[in-house]
Amino acid sequence: MAGRLEGKVAIVTGAGSVGEGIGNGRAAAVLFAREGARVLLADRKRAAAEETLAMIDGEGGEADVFEADVTRSDDCRAMVEAAVGRWGKLDILDNNVGIGGRGTVVDVDEDEWDRVMRVNVKGMMLASKHAVPAMIASGGGAIVNISSIAAFRPRGLTPYSASKGAVISLTRAMAVDHARDGIRVNCIAPGPVYTPMVAAGGMPDELRERRRKASLLQLEGTGWDVGYAALFLVSDEARYITGVCLPVDGGVIISSTTARG
Ligand SMILES: NC(=O)c1ccc[n+]([C@@H]2O[C@H](COP(=O)([O-])OP(=O)(O)OC[C@H]3O[C@@H](n4cnc5c(N)ncnc54)[C@H](O)[C@@H]3O)[C@@H](O)[C@H]2O)c1
Repeated sequence: MAGRLEGKVAIVTGAGSVGEGIGNGRAAAVLFAREGARVLLADRKRAAAEETLAMIDGEGGEADVFEADVTRSDDCRAMVEAAVGRWGKLDILDNNVGIGGRGTVVDVDEDEWDRVMRVNVKGMMLASKHAVPAMIASGGGAIVNISSIAAFRPRGLTPYSASKGAVISLTRAMAVDHARDGIRVNCIAPGPVYTPMVAAGGMPDELRERRRKASLLQLEGTGWDVGYAALFLVSDEARYITGVCLPVDGGVIISSTTARG
């Protein structure tokens, strides 16, 4: 075992998956544990996080489940207290929770707009609000926020794109605010990776194939691709990196400037 996160304590939000298979949060949690971190698996759905726990247990890693809705400040406070209470400190936060949101500004429902912003942006603020003081008390840390290439390449998901753009600005602002605390803050913009969230939407094979071909590399991305990027960004190997947004998209952003996807 390489032990790239040996001795670290991590929280992954949205560490379950909406269905069977590997979502971005589940992959990150498994990889963090594989590299020696003790991981609190936070999710609104306990059963989903328990599936991730079973995977980590099966590999001999150390993790625990915490049921939390990241849109609730009290839940986020309790989540951080649970990690620190159990393992004595907090080094890493993977702000992975995110939900979709369709429509233009004309047809989007106002309540739907608020819901997407509340989950995708406020949820990250609240988790960080409670995690940062615990990280400071632990001597510093690393945060990774999960955005999306939808922030750069909008395609009919305007509330989602706006929320994921906000995640990038939030990342940069947090990086500036907390560098002095020894906390690095970066973000990942996944491309069209095939996760349980996508599968649950019943994506037809033909569209799945089109998504694969949209990538310069002609590859279909998975939760593992996003998880490995998160692993690097929260590890000490990335000690000189803060405030960046790393696309993990097989080159989709640059390929789509010539072929409208
Ligand atoms: N799948 C993709 O193609 C893709 C592309 C770009 C970005 N992303 C982003 O990656 C992240 C994870 O996506 P995924 O496809 O792995 O999702 P997923 O739906 O498989 O997993 C997300 C988990 O978050 C949990 N969750 C939802 N709302 C919550 C809340 N309020 N509090 C706590 N937990 C909550 C769900 O129960 C679920 O277990 C999201 O931020 C998403 O926007 C995904």
